[in-house]
Amino acid sequence: MRVLSGIQPTGRPHWGNYFGAITQYIALQNADQAFYFIANLHALTTVRDREQLSQLTLDAAIDLLALGLDPQEAVLFVQSDVPEVSELCWLLMTGTPMGLLERCHAYKDKKAKGLSADAGLFAYPVLQAADILAFDSDTVPVGEDQVQHIEVCRDIAGSFNHRFGEVFVLPKAKVLDSSARVPGTDGEKMSKSYNNTLAVFESPKVQRKQIMRIATDSRPMEDPKDPETDVLFQLYSLVASDAQREEMAATYRAGGFGYGDVKKALAEAGENFFAEARAQRDDWASRPDDVKEILATGARWARKKASEVLNRAQEACGIKGY
Ligand code: ADP
Ligand code: TRP
Repeated sequence: MRVLSGIQPTGRPHWGNYFGAITQYIALQNADQAFYFIANLHALTTVRDREQLSQLTLDAAIDLLALGLDPQEAVLFVQSDVPEVSELCWLLMTGTPMGLLERCHAYKDKKAKGLSADAGLFAYPVLQAADILAFDSDTVPVGEDQVQHIEVCRDIAGSFNHRFGEVFVLPKAKVLDSSARVPGTDGEKMSKSYNNTLAVFESPKVQRKQIMRIATDSRPMEDPKDPETDVLFQLYSLVASDAQREEMAATYRAGGFGYGDVKKALAEAGENFFAEARAQRDDWASRPDDVKEILATGARWARKKASEVLNRAQEACGIKGY
């Protein structure tokens, strides 16, 4: 299995990102080949501040390392450090029908809102296709929202192969467990766009306050309650041990408890669950040169692979060896 996935450096990771995506990337890092990259060229379609983008890029690498990405197992790099990908993107762009991109969500949604879109947003899925195809990846772990982009990638690769011969491997999306949809502090899906996140690397003090503010229902304390439908319990389940979860579920079913105690237990379990990662993060953050070294090594490996594939594509379509 040759695994690849990209993460946009657009903000601090929250519990939804961790339980919905990052933990599964890390679980796949022992594949025959695993490439993970920080998609800063994609982020440029939304982050237009120099300082912010470069800080977010380094932060994203530090976050992944702190959360267990092992650079001995997986190749970690920054997208823009591998120019072969952008070059391949152009080759793919020349054969991509406008109609295919017009149907893609990000562009379509923006147009539907009457907003004007940049060519970068329009071509976003082609760059994503180049990211994947440049590494002969066959497995792309992504959230449900990205499945369309992987289908577009397969279409683009298929028509290139049809015109020029078998150049590209057709990848498959590995959809991350959608039952791991993490609720936010308001009960909606946790998302940075809804301002309802619990950040993985939040200070315990701030996080405790955020948790204490979660709205709860006003049923009497004595009433037994169904744990599965309760946001506090759902969040607690993610960070508690099996035994703690069972005990808490029994407490809900028995009734006679206060949500304040559940919140305290949740804050404590969250703090413990991410304690090691927080310590690791502080450590990596104090050694930015080591992080940059890992990214530079990753980029060297990535360029080696991507230049092989780019070469194959260039030869096939007649822009090399003329
Ligand atoms: P956000 O919604 O905060 O902008 P992103 O779209 O950047 O998050 O998410 C990156 C990945 O994290 C997604 O592909 C998805 O797999 C995962 N993810 C985000 N929010 C959640 C959530 N609430 N539950 C489960 N997974 C999530
Ligand atoms: N578009 C993806 C996202 O927003 C990030 C991404 C860029 C990606 N290139 C990729 C994911 C290639 C998988 C494969 O989440």
